[in-house]
Amino acid sequence: MKTKNISVNILTVSDRSFKGDREDKSGPTIIDFLKENDFLIHDYQIVPDEIDQIVNILSKWAEEKIPLIFTTGGTGFAPRDITPEATLAIIEKETPGISEYLRYKSFQITPHATLSRAVSGIKNRSLIINLPGSPKAARECLEFLLPVLPHAIELLLEDPGSEKNH
Ligand code: MTE
Repeated sequence: MKTKNISVNILTVSDRSFKGDREDKSGPTIIDFLKENDFLIHDYQIVPDEIDQIVNILSKWAEEKIPLIFTTGGTGFAPRDITPEATLAIIEKETPGISEYLRYKSFQITPHATLSRAVSGIKNRSLIINLPGSPKAARECLEFLLPVLPHAIELLLEDPGSEKNH
C-alpha cells in the first residue's frame, strides 16, 4: 500500500492551545510531514486535556473508520496529562511494538524520552498512535514510524476472508 492512499486524522491535546493561549505548532508540523509523504489529511482538531473529550473524538473517528489517527501531547508526567489513559479506554488491542520502538529510537536522541507514557492500539479498523507534544519530538517519531506505516495499515484493512500472504 502507498501512503497516498491512507487517510489520517490528527488530534492535538492541549489545554493552552484549545483556549487559544498558545498556538498549536505540533498539529501543523505533523500535517506538513504527512502531506510531504503523500498521506491524505482528513481532519485535525484540538481538544483540552480532558479524558471525556479525547475519548469522544477518538471513538467518533474510529467509527468513521479513519485508518490512521495521531494524537500529540498529554503523554508526559504533568498532572493533567491524560492522553494515554484516554487511548487505552477505547482501543481493543494494544500495539506495544509501535510505542516501544518510538521510545527506543527516541532514547538515542534524548533521555527525556523516558518521560513518555505514550501508547498505541487498534479500535475497529483504526490505528491510534500517541505522539509526544513538542513539534520536534512529534516529527522525530513520525520519521521513525514512516517505514512501517503502509504495511501496518495494509494488515489492518485486510479483508478477513482473504488468504494471508505476508
Ligand atoms: N521523543 C523524541 N523523539 N524527542 C523528544 O525530544 N521529548 C520527551 C518525550 N519524547 C522527546 C520525546 C519529553 S521532554 C517528554 S516530557 C515526553 O516525550 C512527553 O511529552 P508530552 O507530555 O508533550 O506528550
